[in-house]
Amino acid sequence: MNKLKISIRVNKLNQSPIRKFFALVERAEKRGIKVFKLNIGDSDIETPKEILKGISSFKNKNIHYAPSSGIKEHIEAWIKYYRGFGIYLGAEEIISTVGVSEGILMTFLAISNPGDEVIVFEPLYANYPAIAAMCGVKLVPIRLKLENGFVLSSEKEIIRKITKKTRGIVVINPDNPTGKAWGKKELEIIAKVARKNNLYIIADETYREIIFRGKPLSMLLFKNIDDNLIVLDSISKRFLAPGIRLGVVVSKNKEFTAGILKIAMSRLSAPTIGQLATIQILKKSRPFTKKLTAEFKKRRDIVNNVLRKMKGVVTYLPNGAFYQVIKLPVKDSESFIKFMLEDFSYQRKTVLVSPMEDFYVSHGHGRDEIRIAYVLNVKELNMAMEVFKRGLQAYLCLKP
Ligand SMILES: Cc1ncc(COP(=O)(O)O)c(C=O)c1O
Repeated sequence: MNKLKISIRVNKLNQSPIRKFFALVERAEKRGIKVFKLNIGDSDIETPKEILKGISSFKNKNIHYAPSSGIKEHIEAWIKYYRGFGIYLGAEEIISTVGVSEGILMTFLAISNPGDEVIVFEPLYANYPAIAAMCGVKLVPIRLKLENGFVLSSEKEIIRKITKKTRGIVVINPDNPTGKAWGKKELEIIAKVARKNNLYIIADETYREIIFRGKPLSMLLFKNIDDNLIVLDSISKRFLAPGIRLGVVVSKNKEFTAGILKIAMSRLSAPTIGQLATIQILKKSRPFTKKLTAEFKKRRDIVNNVLRKMKGVVTYLPNGAFYQVIKLPVKDSESFIKFMLEDFSYQRKTVLVSPMEDFYVSHGHGRDEIRIAYVLNVKELNMAMEVFKRGLQAYLCLKP
């Protein structure tokens, strides 16, 4: 009998760098080792009570589909939320999605044909390459270096990468995995290049308010790029509810939103209960995100107080989100991560981090880098960093 085949598209996908050590974690836990998980962007902080209350107060006898563009009251809550930043949007400019993940997918489908190109800055959130591969989009990376603070220095760096097939530029601000909060000048470079070359800007602002210096800087505040700009937004991180699976795509480009709406109709709707349950927190977003940001800043400082004293470790002090990239004095960070899970523990504890290689589109980068996510409380994080420090020392004694 012929073997049934799966698609080339699926075969091209990498395993998630964040999820690929689950089996080793399970085995370590079975041996009674506590694994501090600093690998995944799903924080320990409780989902706000407004959202939990919103879910439990749903009393309808039927969970109907929502309108494909989103429930009116939910969209109105986003409009009000954006108004708080001096950004004025109409309801037809916001479309509800199943998280930013679906927003990326819909956007790539709406702006590109197979074989078209989208410029990205690497390292970048690892699901972009996966979604691009599914859509037949070729990602063209511009490498930003840890040693240079991940700075985009000039227009030329982007212009060099533009071809006849380029459709857009992705900018994640603040960024996962680097924790970089993009500066106004850098964003102005992107805006200028996009406007001049007729390209879309796909601004992923999943972590918008989580910045440790200055004010949140949405690209929706920039002038003269209304037709170019697509903003992707999410409930997941700033409102601590990734499982609610909700985001929005925002754009003032009418042709684009009409296209996105057609795609949205084909998948019927984003979650109904989630849209209703997030209305209240969107209305009270500022005090909530302020407190959250202060907590992540505390965690960033704990991690960096330890890293700063570790010999051979190169870091960049993040200015936003809750991640950071670290260069280790090792040849292969995956081997170090496996060592931590299989061969090392300190007081029956170990640490799981993410290897960076799969956050790069170009091959051969990031093999000596890891990403840490500050997703544990201060007490646990302090302990986890002590274990991490001792683990690296032990690994270096074995594999100097
Ligand atoms: C930059 C970035 N974009 C999008 C997502 C996915 O967000 P969502 O849960 O809204 O699909 C993540 C999740 O980690 C992310 O870091």
